[in-house]
Amino acid sequence: MLSHWPAEATIAPVTPSNGPHDHRVPASPVITGSRENAGAGNSPRLHEPPRRAGELPPPTRGCYAPQVRIPGPEEIRALHEKHAPTAEAFASVHRHCELVWRVAEQLLASPRLAHLDAELVRAGCLLHDIGVYRLYDEDGRLDHKNYIRHGLLGQELLESEGYPAALCRFCSHHTGVGLTREDVVRQNLPVPPADYLAETPEERLVMYADKFHSKSHPHRFLTPDAYAAHVRRFGEEKVTAFEALREEFGDPDLTRLAPQAELPPVTG
Ligand SMILES: [Fe+2]
Repeated sequence: MLSHWPAEATIAPVTPSNGPHDHRVPASPVITGSRENAGAGNSPRLHEPPRRAGELPPPTRGCYAPQVRIPGPEEIRALHEKHAPTAEAFASVHRHCELVWRVAEQLLASPRLAHLDAELVRAGCLLHDIGVYRLYDEDGRLDHKNYIRHGLLGQELLESEGYPAALCRFCSHHTGVGLTREDVVRQNLPVPPADYLAETPEERLVMYADKFHSKSHPHRFLTPDAYAAHVRRFGEEKVTAFEALREEFGDPDLTRLAPQAELPPVTG
């Protein structure tokens, strides 16, 4: 397990089995019509400005989603199958992503979150950890030491598949309760010094929902108090940031979700 950063979880090493399935995924985002929850007064983002290699994509609010074709669960599952190095890796990562979506979906039922783009949140949840696949070696072992790099690796993976920034950012901007340049420098983390902060409500919700489920073997949920206790070791400011997210999105009812995991929630 990564010792110096509260990434949501790690995965036990696995052994290789089946090779990846080669499902085709559309190479480019498709421009579609408007959605009911499109924000007013926002100009369309039909073309993203060019970025230098390795440069982080800008935040894209959910209100820009009308210009982005949001992939559905089946397409995303196929993308996972395409990039998973083993059946075990797929089962662990994809299942975790599904459960993160279940948490977010439950929170989205609150009327106070009706302004969020639920389809964008679903895609973000289902895609956010896809970069973990790139941390497995050819023997099926996960590189725990560099686990924190899975966010940027996921961003690169989605970019290589032609996905737009609105989706790529869910990978590179969901770590902990907000990874800052100062965190990277102070902890000497193996990612380029930069702020990797979730900025849109959809990005924040994906990051937040991710905190309630661990794919450490075996999968299990964590209660809000359990995560708060976990993140305290990284500084009181991280606890404060987590409490702000709780205030914004509310606490999930994990007892309604726990049967889908292997163990009851960790409570503290
Ligand atoms: Fe995750």
